[in-house]
Amino acid sequence: MDLNPQTVFEAIGGEAPLRRLVDAFYDRMDAAPQYAGIRALHPAALSGSRDKLFWFLCGWSGGPDHYVERFGHPRLRARHLPFAIAAGERDQWLACMSDAMSASELPVALQQRLMAAFFQTADWMRNQP
Ligand code: HEM
Repeated sequence: MDLNPQTVFEAIGGEAPLRRLVDAFYDRMDAAPQYAGIRALHPAALSGSRDKLFWFLCGWSGGPDHYVERFGHPRLRARHLPFAIAAGERDQWLACMSDAMSASELPVALQQRLMAAFFQTADWMRNQP
């Protein structure tokens, strides 16, 4: 029996590859016309969004709790309520992440596992019909 199963954070390779994924995600959101809808919901400068998503995903994947240390409980759904998120916004977010992940060096099986988990979280963020 494996008493110390690898976390997703470890499978990703730790902070540096996770940060590269977050940066690739926001680089695409910033540049690609198909993500203009969700880009417009974000502040003009994306540096704060990059840091927050990176800090959050560290803890979410079983690594260090950088986000909670800074901001307390994520209350992720509540923090997204100011933004109108319907299926279209959810799907843009997921497509942008899938794009970023395909360009990463992460193994395909891990990409699929992450996308399934992201789908659950993104769908939970929907606050419009
Ligand atoms: C479903 C589509 C989504 C949309 C349209 C969306 C949009 C946004 C926007 C506009 C912000 C504010 C950015 C800022 O204040 O800099 C934000 C913040 C954030 N999002 Fe999302 N998001 C989505 C899904 C997700 C998912 C799936 C996750 C996690 C896996 C996530 C994690 C976060 C985090 C951690 C923050 C920072 C919260 C804070 O401390 O204020 N979001 N999101």
